[in-house]
Amino acid sequence: MKAIVLEAPGRAVVKEVAEPRVGKDEVLLQVRRVGLCGSDLNSYRGRNPLVSYPRIPGHEISATVVDSEMHREWEVGTAVTVLPYAACGHCAACKRGRPNACRDNQTLGVQRDGALTELIAVPATKLYRANLTLKELCLVEPLTVGFHAVGRGRVTADDTVAVFGCGGVGLGVVAGAAFRGARVIGIDVDDAKLETARKAGAAEGINSKTSDVHERLMELTDGRGPDVVVEAIGLPATYRAAVEEVAYAGRVVYIGWAKEEVAYETRPFVHKELDILGSRNAVPEDFREVIQMLEAKRFPVEAAVTHMVAFDETPAILDAWSREPAQFTKIMIEVS
Ligand SMILES: NC(=O)c1ccc[n+]([C@@H]2O[C@H](COP(=O)([O-])OP(=O)(O)OC[C@H]3O[C@@H](n4cnc5c(N)ncnc54)[C@H](O)[C@@H]3O)[C@@H](O)[C@H]2O)c1
Ligand SMILES: [Zn+2]
Ligand SMILES: [Zn+2]
Repeated sequence: MKAIVLEAPGRAVVKEVAEPRVGKDEVLLQVRRVGLCGSDLNSYRGRNPLVSYPRIPGHEISATVVDSEMHREWEVGTAVTVLPYAACGHCAACKRGRPNACRDNQTLGVQRDGALTELIAVPATKLYRANLTLKELCLVEPLTVGFHAVGRGRVTADDTVAVFGCGGVGLGVVAGAAFRGARVIGIDVDDAKLETARKAGAAEGINSKTSDVHERLMELTDGRGPDVVVEAIGLPATYRAAVEEVAYAGRVVYIGWAKEEVAYETRPFVHKELDILGSRNAVPEDFREVIQMLEAKRFPVEAAVTHMVAFDETPAILDAWSREPAQFTKIMIEVS
């Protein structure tokens, strides 16, 4: 069968690989759509320290069941999405029931081969079915990352939530907080991203290039600041802004991976008595909540997916994306 193989940084090829063997706990799937995100771009560019080569990427998946002999509850032809993480089961995080933060987590397409191929074998326990299209099913995983942060921030309908960064990940935060009934303020440097955030449920948008974020947040919250601030960019400036802008007794959730050291004025941690939380990957509950939101047609699927590409075009689109990342939001590969 055909697969997209990253042979080395900057080199992706379409290649013949062996079909998977199906384990006792697994179901065989025909891959239909695969979404790409920033971590795939990093893998392609050789900037993902967790990836070794050769590697088949792909962790945002929709697929149909081909063979479920051992798991009859997954009828042949059923459309599914996949939880792409595998936890060790015995580290401190796993023992606490938080496998998303597993010390030795393995993600499809990162530490093991992923879904950019014709067939994959996946544990039955990692499958989700839903009343959704293949395109919608393929958006579930990227949205769960933002939904998990909303859960970490204990967002309720009484909260005003500010989200720094309305890219692929931040958009999930916006949609997740809005789905819980919170008032959401999106912050980005790109008006197109803010427009999509509005469609995903943001009541307000602030372009931090053209307006003063602090002033606008004060105006929008009667001088209190947002109850919850989520950082979904990974820059030192926005890491700091999160604790500076959040309300007293507020909650700060960090999803962005900062690529350099961040220096802080720590006084606000104590003075405001903040909850400062990290958020990584997602758990089954997040998958169920995203599916509910998508089934309720509360997400602008068409606006969020900017490029739909044929399987054989994957190497070319990775190259174009790597050269001009700003031209792309969500690329989805039509595998079959
Ligand atoms: N914690 C996790 O589990 C997890 C998972 C995936 C990604 N991430 C991280 O989340 C972050 C966001 O990922 P993404 O895929 O959404 O990236 P992205 O590039 O799609 O989105 C970033 C957004 O931030 C905006 N932006 C850039 N600089 C800004 C600034 N100074 N002020 C305001 N907005 C600005 C961009 O216009 C863009 O819309 C990254 O750091 C990524 O590594 C974390
Ligand atoms: Zn992803
Ligand atoms: Zn573990």
